[in-house]
Amino acid sequence: MRPLKCLVPAFALALAAGAPLPAAADTANPAVTAASPDGTLVLTVSTDSSSRPTWSLSRKGKLLIGTSKLGFTLTDGLNMVRGFRIVGSDTASANETWEQPWGERRFVTDKHNEVLVRFQQNDEYGNRQMNVRFRLFDNGFGLRYELPEQPGLKTMKIADEWTEFNVAQLGTAWWVTGLEWNREEQVYQRTPIDSVATAQTPITMRLDDGTHLAFHEAALVDYSAMNFKRAEGQLFRSTLSPSSRGASVIRDLPFNTPWRTIRIADSAAGIVENDLELNLNEPNKLGNVSWFKPMKYVGIWWGMIRGDWSWAEGPRHGATTTRAKQYIDFAAQHGFGGVLVEGWDKGWNHDWFGHGQEFSYTEAVPDFDLKAVTAYAASKKVQLIGHNETGGNIANYEAQLEDAMKLYQSLGMHSVKTGYVADAGGIIAPGDKPGEVRMEFHDGQRQVQHHLKVVEAAAKYQVAIDAHEPVKDTGLRRTYPNWIDREGARGMEYNAWGAFANGPNHEPTLVYTRMLSGPMDFTPGVLSLEGANHAPLASTLAKQLGLYLAIYSPIQMAADFVETLAKYPKELDFISKVPADWSESHLIAGEVGDYAIFARKDRNSADWYVGGVNGSAARDVTLSMDFLDPGKTYTATVYKDGEGATYLTDARHNIAYTTLTLRKGDKVPLWLAAGGGAAIRLHPGK
Ligand code: NOJ
Ligand code: CA
Repeated sequence: MRPLKCLVPAFALALAAGAPLPAAADTANPAVTAASPDGTLVLTVSTDSSSRPTWSLSRKGKLLIGTSKLGFTLTDGLNMVRGFRIVGSDTASANETWEQPWGERRFVTDKHNEVLVRFQQNDEYGNRQMNVRFRLFDNGFGLRYELPEQPGLKTMKIADEWTEFNVAQLGTAWWVTGLEWNREEQVYQRTPIDSVATAQTPITMRLDDGTHLAFHEAALVDYSAMNFKRAEGQLFRSTLSPSSRGASVIRDLPFNTPWRTIRIADSAAGIVENDLELNLNEPNKLGNVSWFKPMKYVGIWWGMIRGDWSWAEGPRHGATTTRAKQYIDFAAQHGFGGVLVEGWDKGWNHDWFGHGQEFSYTEAVPDFDLKAVTAYAASKKVQLIGHNETGGNIANYEAQLEDAMKLYQSLGMHSVKTGYVADAGGIIAPGDKPGEVRMEFHDGQRQVQHHLKVVEAAAKYQVAIDAHEPVKDTGLRRTYPNWIDREGARGMEYNAWGAFANGPNHEPTLVYTRMLSGPMDFTPGVLSLEGANHAPLASTLAKQLGLYLAIYSPIQMAADFVETLAKYPKELDFISKVPADWSESHLIAGEVGDYAIFARKDRNSADWYVGGVNGSAARDVTLSMDFLDPGKTYTATVYKDGEGATYLTDARHNIAYTTLTLRKGDKVPLWLAAGGGAAIRLHPGK
């Protein structure tokens, strides 16, 4: 067979990078190769002796992902795994910078090379075309299937996707179980890579040679979520979340799958400061979204989570007009932009958990005057944050969606928190016939469609969405910047329900796992450091402030009761000032699961903020102020763990405050308590 058009430059790049030639590059199975812009990553795409499409990846000349297969099984036809040959390929590259309307950093650079490989399945197995696009960044990799229009394959009913990832070296993995009932609200496991079961993504790995990897997906649209299933040894395979319709995914051709992605770096910071999935998403489709302003908020929430108040009507009802006004007053006084009110609407009085058929998204309960509260909020320049708990009943929610969003816009509300609490991970979705419903998986194709439907309807009425119990984030905030954040992991709420419920290492693990997917509504700021029945948090007081630097969200809650927040004037001052929108963010110290300290620059001033969270082992760190702007002197207000602080005893409340004068290049020694943290505000001048 003739060498392919792209072979010569690709091989030249591979050789320049010192990569081994692909073993399978013989004339029967010609290989296509491509390299990342600086040659660090080298890809080889081929077919094996059974004509199965394969790929492998090396980094700095060392095998990273060994031979891994590609393909699909179908519910209504011959599989698309064998009988393929490569019939062509095209290469392209890009080097551009784009701007985020809000986020961890203002400008994002997209520098990559790519190759589209065209596979053809021959007659014995079918006569089908399957293209695979591979994109190589110096710190990441993505592949997706592109199914072109073709005779004989109009609709694909995908039983499962057979994308393999053959991790070549031993190491450690941080992961939560995929396909679980409680979405992703689990404590992370840390195991050898070869002991992972079926994981949700992102799954993070540190190989024995120090290379850090995070496997995930980008642009999950009209498809089922990919779970990461260990087949044997260190060979992983995609497995798609199921559907009631038999096939996990049903799509008409042409279509593209989501990207399957790997962040790749020498250090923990390299997988955190990495925009791979954002770069693999389509640009902003909504245009100007300046009606959404990043902000901090308080809410009628912690009282229900702890069980002091109820969502349901009655003597303990949390969402009363009086309390909402009290929270609005507090927000206005302390610079919070929003007040979340849960339990304002009808539908909570019975067992709503996993049913949701009684929820109304437009009708308030009698002791909550929606019009009066929103008008009062507007008079105080505060916004009400809406709440739409569905109990997983998306049939009921979709039927009211337009009316609800229209109402919220008319009341000056620009953000809504949604929720999909349901046992068994099931979603009650509209069926094919009017009035019919079906159960669907919480991150199957139907629920993926649902989330986008909500986000698009909300955008039409200038409403931003904060989704709880969501489908995982895959960078879609680039395309739909009103999809501001999600929960999608075990949040603060668990601390209300038991002593040390989240454990001291939880947040330092989230930074390197869940947070790689996108912003999280973790809801920090429980300054009392206790949940129901005085259950202690695995946190010092300084850690509650450090969370505002460690866990990014453009809406950031101060979760405690306002009466409690008011008892901590110094901490409240920090929370009032810390931004929720940054021009730059850097992980300046940290290791996966152990600790994480960030430096972030305010998008709207010259201030820098430094801080983060520590796990179960106390430690000394020295922070380099290399990131500071040259020629400036900063006054640094430091909140740190006080002497003897530890999450294990009442000493968790010990906090110390100091003021330093700092310049670029200075070194700041800092002691972090067990379960501790720190936060520093750096303001130029005195
Ligand atoms: C679970 C959410 O995570 C929580 O924030 C919310 O208050 C409840 N569901 C009720 O919607
Ligand atoms: Ca939740």
